[in-house]
Amino acid sequence: MGSHHGFFLGIPFVLFVFLGFMLFPAEAAIKKYKFDIQVKSVSRLCHAKPIVTVNGRFPGPTIYVREGDRVIVNVTNHAQYNMSIHWHGLKQYRNGWADGPAYITQCPIQTGNSYSYDFNVTGQRGTLWWHAHILWLRATVYGAVVILPKQGTPFPFPQPHIEEIILLGEWWHTDVEEVEKQGIKTGLPPNMSDAHTINGKPGPLFPCSEKHTFAMEVEQGKTYLLRIINAALNDELFFAIAGHNLTVVEVDAVYTKPFSTQAIIIAPGQTTNVLVQANQMPSRYFMATRSFMDVPLPIDNKTATAILQYKGIPNTILPTLPQLPAPNDTSFVLHYNNKLRSLNSPEFPADIPLKIDRKLLYTIGFGKDSCPTCVNGTRLLATLNNISFSMPQMALLQAHYSSIKGVFKTDFPDKPPKPFNYTGAPLTANLGTSHGTRLSKIKFNSTVELVLQDTNLLTVESHPFHLHGYNFFVVGTGIGNFDPAKDPAKYNLIDPIERNTVGVPTGGWTAIRFRADNPGVWFMHCHLELHTGWGLKTAFVVEDGAGPNQSILPPPNDLPPC
Ligand SMILES: *[C@@H]1O[C@H](CO)[C@@H](O)[C@H](O)[C@H]1NC(C)=O
Ligand SMILES: *[C@@H]1O[C@H](CO)[C@@H](O)[C@H](O)[C@H]1NC(C)=O
Ligand SMILES: *[C@@H]1O[C@H](CO)[C@@H](O)[C@H](O)[C@H]1NC(C)=O
Ligand SMILES: *[C@@H]1O[C@H](CO)[C@@H](O)[C@H](O)[C@H]1NC(C)=O
Ligand SMILES: *[C@@H]1O[C@H](CO)[C@@H](O)[C@H](O)[C@H]1NC(C)=O
Ligand SMILES: *[C@@H]1O[C@H](CO)[C@@H](O)[C@H](O)[C@H]1NC(C)=O
Ligand SMILES: *[C@@H]1O[C@H](CO)[C@@H](O)[C@H](O)[C@H]1NC(C)=O
Ligand SMILES: *[C@@H]1O[C@H](CO)[C@@H](O)[C@H](O)[C@H]1NC(C)=O
Ligand SMILES: *[C@@H]1O[C@H](CO)[C@@H](O)[C@H](O)[C@H]1NC(C)=O
Ligand SMILES: *[C@@H]1O[C@H](CO)[C@@H](O)[C@H](O)[C@H]1NC(C)=O
Ligand SMILES: *[C@@H]1O[C@H](CO)[C@@H](O)[C@H](O)[C@H]1NC(C)=O
Ligand SMILES: *[C@@H]1O[C@H](CO)[C@@H](O)[C@H](O)[C@H]1NC(C)=O
Repeated sequence: MGSHHGFFLGIPFVLFVFLGFMLFPAEAAIKKYKFDIQVKSVSRLCHAKPIVTVNGRFPGPTIYVREGDRVIVNVTNHAQYNMSIHWHGLKQYRNGWADGPAYITQCPIQTGNSYSYDFNVTGQRGTLWWHAHILWLRATVYGAVVILPKQGTPFPFPQPHIEEIILLGEWWHTDVEEVEKQGIKTGLPPNMSDAHTINGKPGPLFPCSEKHTFAMEVEQGKTYLLRIINAALNDELFFAIAGHNLTVVEVDAVYTKPFSTQAIIIAPGQTTNVLVQANQMPSRYFMATRSFMDVPLPIDNKTATAILQYKGIPNTILPTLPQLPAPNDTSFVLHYNNKLRSLNSPEFPADIPLKIDRKLLYTIGFGKDSCPTCVNGTRLLATLNNISFSMPQMALLQAHYSSIKGVFKTDFPDKPPKPFNYTGAPLTANLGTSHGTRLSKIKFNSTVELVLQDTNLLTVESHPFHLHGYNFFVVGTGIGNFDPAKDPAKYNLIDPIERNTVGVPTGGWTAIRFRADNPGVWFMHCHLELHTGWGLKTAFVVEDGAGPNQSILPPPNDLPPC
C-alpha cells in the first residue's frame, strides 16, 4: 500500500489509502521499545532493597501491540548480572533467536551489552507476558504483553468499558540471588517468599503497605476486563474479588467458552482474562490472591490484596475479603481446569491433531545427589524420565543451527527407562538419577502427543509445564497412572483448551498434543523456578522442513556471543 502505488494509479493518495484499507488488510506496524536493565532501590514491607528492573519500573513496562505487528525491543544490560528476556507464549515462528531462555536459544546479554529482540506477532491475540529467563531474576524483571486483535476485529465477548492488567508476583525481603545461592549451597529448597504481590504491591494485610496497595476504580453498571498474569516464581495462586463473580474469556492468549466462577486458579506462567461486572452495592471490595498447595510442603501461604473501589466511595470504608478456596482444595482446581474449553468457532477453530506421529511419555520426579558440602550430604534435584537436565555452556539453538557437535545429544528417551508404579507408594530410596543435556528430535510438521506423568519419587506435587515456541491442546488429564489402553478413549478432541502452560495434577497426568510446525530448539520445563533449577527441563529440536519458508531464520547480527 505504498504511496508509489497511489501515484502509479494516478488517483489521490488519500483516496487510495481509503480504498486500500477496504481492499487490503491494514499494514503491520513496527512497535519499538527500549528496555534498560537497571538496579533500583525499592521499598516493600518496611524494608528497602536494590532490585533488578526494566527502566527503573517494578513491575516493568507493558508491551502493547496489535496482531500482525513487528516488535523490536532493544535490551541494554546495566546490571551486574547476565540477562535474557523471554516473551512468554509468543510463538516466534522460525525465530527462536528472539525467544530468550539463556543458553537454550541465546547466550546472555552481558553487563554493558545490548540485544534487540525482533519478532512478528502472528496469529495470536490476548494477554501474554515477558520475564527474565536466567537465574531467579524474573522475581522482579517481568511485565505484561497485550496483543490487541487486528484493527476492526472485535473481541468475541462484550466490549469492556476499560481493561486493567493484574500481575501476581512474589516478594522476598532479601536479594533473590542470595536466596537462590543459599538453596544451591544447602541442597535444600531456599527460603520461601515473604509476600505475594498484586501489581508489585502486597496490600494492607502486610505492614508498611499504605503506599503499596493497588486500587482500581470502577463505575456502577460497567464491565471491566482484567488481564491476570501469574508472574510468581514458585506458587500456583487462587484469585478472587469479594462480592463479584469472574467470567473467564481467555487463557494464555486463546479465547475460551465463557464461564462464570467465584475464583480462578492460575499457575506461574499462565494468563487469564476475566470480565467483571461492577453490579454490586457501591463500596470497596478486596481482590485477593493466595497459594494453592495440596501436599504437605512448606509454602508462602500469605494473602496479597488489592482494592476494587466504586467511584465516589471514600477510602475510609473497610473492604471485605473474598472467600478464596482452601489452600489444599484439589477438587476446586480439577473442576475449574475441566471447565476451560476452546471456543472452537469458525473464526477461532481448534485445529487439534487427530492422527499422531509421535507418542511420548515423560515422568516427573524428584531425586537426590550426593553433595558432601550440603546439609545432610545430599542435594535435591528433579528429573524428566529420570534425567536431570544439565545446562550447556553455549546456546543450544546456535549449536543446532551451526551443527556444532558435543553441546547436546538428541537421545532423550520417548518413555521412562524403567516403568514402575508411578503414583504408588512413595519411593524414598534408590533415588539415583542421570544427568545430561539430552533433547528429543522431532520431524518438521509431525504431530506429537506428550503425556506428562507425575510420580511419587520423594513426593507427588503439581507442576505447571511450559512449552516454548508452541501452543498445545490439553486433550486429557487424570489422577493416578496414565493408562494407554483406556485413557485416550476419554480424551476431549472437540474443544480442549489450547495454551502454553499446563498444570500436571498432583499424583496425576496430563496429555497434550501439538503439530511441530515451528523449526528450532524449544525449551520445555516446569515453570516453578525452584524445580527448573533442579533440572526439571528438556528441549525439543524441531527439524527444518523441506519448503522455502520452513527452516530456522538466520541469526540476527547482534545475537550475544558466549
Ligand atoms: C540498542 O541500544 C544500544 C544502547 O542505546 C545501542 O548502542 C544499540 O545500537 C541499539 N541496538 C540497535 C539494534 O538499535
Ligand atoms: C516479520 O515479517 C516481515 C514482513 O513479513 C518479514 O520481512 C520479517 O522477516 C519477519 N521477521 C521475522 C523475525 O520473522
Ligand atoms: C533465610 O531465612 C533464614 C531464617 O529466617 C535467615 O537466617 C537467612 O538469612 C535467610 N536467607 C536469605 C538468603 O535471605
Ligand atoms: C456468583 O455465582 C454464584 C454461583 O453461580 C451465584 O450463587 C452468585 O449469586 C453469583 N454472584 C453474583 C454477585 O453474581
Ligand atoms: C502458613 O504457613 C506457616 C509457615 O509454614 C504455618 O505456620 C501456618 O500454619 C500456615 N497457615 C495456614 C493457614 O495454613
Ligand atoms: C485441607 O486442610 C485442612 C486444614 O488444614 C484439613 O482439615 C483438610 O483435611 C485438608 N483437606 C484435604 C483434602 O487434604
Ligand atoms: C536432614 O537431616 C535432618 C536431621 O537428620 C532431618 O530432620 C531432615 O529431614 C533432613 N532433611 C532432608 C531434606 O533430608
Ligand atoms: C500402584 O500403587 C497404588 C497405591 O499403592 C495401588 O493402589 C495400585 O494398585 C498400584 N498399581 C499397580 C499397577 O500396581
Ligand atoms: C534412574 O537412573 C539411575 C542411574 O542410572 C538408576 O540408578 C535409577 O534406578 C533410575 N531410576 C528410575 C526410577 O528409573
Ligand atoms: C503439515 O501437515 C498438514 C497435514 O498433512 C498439512 O495440511 C500442512 O499443510 C502441513 N504444513 C506445512 C507447513 O507443511
Ligand atoms: C510457506 O510456504 C507455503 C508453501 O510452500 C505456503 O502455503 C505458506 O503459506 C507459507 N507460510 C508462510 C508463513 O509464509
Ligand atoms: C555471563 O555469561 C557469559 C557468557 O555465557 C559467561 O562466560 C559468564 O561467566 C557469565 N557471567 C556470570 C557472572 O555468570
